[in-house]
Amino acid sequence: MQHGSTDRPWWERGVIYQIYPRSFQDSDGDGIGDLAGIEARLDHVATLGVDAIWLSPVFPSPMADFGYDVADYCGIDPMFGDLAAFDRLLAAVHARGLKLLLDFVPNHSSDRHPWFQQSRSSRDDPRRDWYIWRDPAPGGGPPNNWISDFGGPAWEHDAATGQYFLHTFLKEQPDLNWRDPDLRAAMMAAMRFWFDRGVDGFRIDVLWHIVKARGLPDNPVNPDWHPGLNARDQVIQTFSTDQPEAHAIAADMRALADSFGDRALVGEIFLPNDRHARWFGKPDRPEVHLPFNFQLIENAWDAAVLARVIGDYDASIPAHGWPNWVFGSHDAPRIAARIGEAQARLAAVLLLTLRGTPTLFQGDEIGIGEVAIPPDRVRDPQEIRQPGIGLGRDRSRTPMPWDASAHAGFSSAEPWLPLNADWSTRNVTAQEADAGSMLHLYRSLLALRRANATLSIGDFALVEADTGVLAYERRSGAERLLVALNLGGEPRPLRLPAGAVVAETLASTLPLRTIDGMLAPDEGLILRLTEAD
Ligand code: GLC
Ligand code: MG
Repeated sequence: MQHGSTDRPWWERGVIYQIYPRSFQDSDGDGIGDLAGIEARLDHVATLGVDAIWLSPVFPSPMADFGYDVADYCGIDPMFGDLAAFDRLLAAVHARGLKLLLDFVPNHSSDRHPWFQQSRSSRDDPRRDWYIWRDPAPGGGPPNNWISDFGGPAWEHDAATGQYFLHTFLKEQPDLNWRDPDLRAAMMAAMRFWFDRGVDGFRIDVLWHIVKARGLPDNPVNPDWHPGLNARDQVIQTFSTDQPEAHAIAADMRALADSFGDRALVGEIFLPNDRHARWFGKPDRPEVHLPFNFQLIENAWDAAVLARVIGDYDASIPAHGWPNWVFGSHDAPRIAARIGEAQARLAAVLLLTLRGTPTLFQGDEIGIGEVAIPPDRVRDPQEIRQPGIGLGRDRSRTPMPWDASAHAGFSSAEPWLPLNADWSTRNVTAQEADAGSMLHLYRSLLALRRANATLSIGDFALVEADTGVLAYERRSGAERLLVALNLGGEPRPLRLPAGAVVAETLASTLPLRTIDGMLAPDEGLILRLTEAD
């Protein structure tokens, strides 16, 4: 393989930026973001220096799960705009040389989707089998022991026909039956609809969930579960996830994407490395381009833990696969809330210098931290169903603060969720004016990555480092870059690989200084190395 070459597909070289449409920019004064708002703020995305936008769902939806309950796979919710507004946004994105990924939600629809309305109407309806219906268990009650990811049984009894339907998430999100060929064709047609319109790909929601084991056997009980943990984890999802038939569907989706040319599929998949890597598919029957890798979110911010996790993940990627990294999303706690702002600057360096495609979540580029959501403003159904155990997702979904004007320039009305408490100083405009801000750090890292292909596609190797320091080299040809991150609060020696000296400091999380053989607390460096004479 030719390293250092920039002749790689955009989804390998590039950086993805996630926009949560409800919270990016409101254009019509309803306190909720929309497509015209996103279009008006595209300069921010372009000047940041990312390559692609992934838009969380904008399809017609009753919003029981804020768009992840789709009532029409081929439309736009009036709250966000209409198809014409979408086409304008897509053209504006492309005009800036950016790509646009939509969010495809194949595991479930909304219960208001006409398909489900028909399916539930009678046992003989032609669409009955588009969803997963079962008789009650022999003694009554749900057909098996499966638990909803949002807590409670994954089954809802429907009096009209006396059967239960399966819902992996809310009862307003009935699971689709991908074993039914007509449903499958209808969903593939929906994907094709957006490809035909010109979208560059999809992020695919809970892809590893979409097919369930035949016979729907009980899931094994998890002996380690106890109250206070997510109710979802009472059982291990052996029979409700990661079935071979789901891989076959992913391969079909890939074939469809490939038939349109330079498109990309990103799959939301939570699994251990060996099973996770299978979602790349086989070389002659590929599946998703990027199975989302959430290990930076799931593991402790600790140099030794991260070195192990990064090394194991990198080693698990097959020759025909390509790694990727995520630090934040609309589902996960914000990185600056988890580790503090000073360390979040190191997280920015890490995300943008590991081998693999990074996904950056809106708002992390200005370091939004914890946002306390007052009880009367909680909107997230996951938090409402299992309150007080830390599952709330509203705190990561708060509106983008753009400036110090009313409602932070996000809307002319009170936003649907509160702003970050420090919005009057932590906003895009304020950080523009501050050369030391998180925003400028992200911009300079993204510019460096763009200018230097070694950072995106060069080889990767961990380097031995002191306690609390995470260090690795990126190489291509004669170029050697060292990334050294001091995750601790103590100064630590900066160890250089034997025979190497520092030629140039390319980036730092602290003001640039002469390198003196030490890493200051919270210091992260990107150094160009050269051979000692
Ligand atoms: C995914 C989404 C999450 C949603 C769930 C159900 O995990 O990221 O926001 O609630 O799927 O669609
Ligand atoms: Mg609006």
